[in-house]
Amino acid sequence: MNRLRVFIPTPLPEELCDFIQRAEPRIDLIRDQTLLPPQRYPGDHLGEESFARTTAAQTRFEELVDSADALFGVPDQSAAQLKRTVEGNPRLRWVHTTPAGGGGQVKAAGLAEHHLKRVAFTASGGVHGQPLAEFAVFGVLAGAKELPRLLTDQRNHIWGQRRAVPQLSRQTVLVVGLGGIGRAVAGKLSALGVHVVGAHRRQVEAPGVERIIAMSELASAVRDVDAIVVCLPGTDATHRIISRTVLANVKPGVTIVNVGRGSTIDERALVEALADGRIGFAALDVFESEPLSPDSPLWDLPNVLISPHTAAINTGEERLIAELFAQNATRLLDGLPLLNLVNTVEFY
Ligand SMILES: NC(=O)c1ccc[n+]([C@@H]2O[C@H](COP(=O)([O-])OP(=O)(O)OC[C@H]3O[C@@H](n4cnc5c(N)ncnc54)[C@H](OP(=O)(O)O)[C@@H]3O)[C@@H](O)[C@H]2O)c1
Repeated sequence: MNRLRVFIPTPLPEELCDFIQRAEPRIDLIRDQTLLPPQRYPGDHLGEESFARTTAAQTRFEELVDSADALFGVPDQSAAQLKRTVEGNPRLRWVHTTPAGGGGQVKAAGLAEHHLKRVAFTASGGVHGQPLAEFAVFGVLAGAKELPRLLTDQRNHIWGQRRAVPQLSRQTVLVVGLGGIGRAVAGKLSALGVHVVGAHRRQVEAPGVERIIAMSELASAVRDVDAIVVCLPGTDATHRIISRTVLANVKPGVTIVNVGRGSTIDERALVEALADGRIGFAALDVFESEPLSPDSPLWDLPNVLISPHTAAINTGEERLIAELFAQNATRLLDGLPLLNLVNTVEFY
């Protein structure tokens, strides 16, 4: 393969389109900003919700989508559009999905086995490692330093009693899932002197992690840790892996942070454990169902910090995704295996 015709069917600033083109000159980069919704914020891959194409513009958009060897992003982030173009464009070789958990988009398209084998799908795993690691450190610190109690006392003008507050460098934190995010979390926590234990399904290189336990040991490992940071993708195998049993075994007062997927924690059991104080504090960026229902008891629990799945958003994200895409384009053109391939069995 000498050249790669790439179409960008999802909002991306012009300077990053130029960057991709410059980074790999063998790409023929097609984009038409008039066919794409304006971004609402940096890193917005969906764009203005009110945006609509005329019939003629939609036809043109789909023609361009169907003319590509490779796509930067799922067209309109729509599973139906992905299915349509994979089935309709025999030249399509590769689709890069912009979320880290892009496997979910591929799964939602319900593609037949032969299409999953014919087209390579990649995701942006690892790109969100640093901002989410910062959120995780923020959550672990907020729990250790008893942020809810301080805020409540301050609101009530109470000069609280002198009391010992946990010191992070004497704490042990369990990081569940050692992909790009989990490894970034482990690195930052260990730099603060935290003893970091990892839970993963295999032994991996993870700087800062003192030891790695098997996922099957979660229920016993949580007895000894001061905080748990969940960094897992949402798959059938990880569904409610932080189960009622796991939550029943935690050290009283533990902090829980979730920056992976909400489906990985049994949310009802989490609410109960937060309400009875077994879990001291939770910082949650992701939820079983999003947006979180206004009726969710999580909103009113004083020991919960709710972040509306925004902890990863930052101004540098798109640049990292563009760099990853350009690197993979070069690999594809050179006949090398792609980085960050979506696992099309477990879909993450
Ligand atoms: N909060 C947010 O806004 C946000 C942003 C980005 C990502 N996320 C979520 O976070 C997830 C992880 O992101 P990432 O960048 O770290 O992705 P990643 O680098 O692709 O890592 C995913 C990791 O999950 C592991 N894994 C998959 N199934 C597992 C299982 N059943 N048990 C244990 N480990 C399992 C994989 O193990 P192997 O090493 O064996 O493959 C891999 O190491 C994404 O899939 C996404 O759902 C959330």
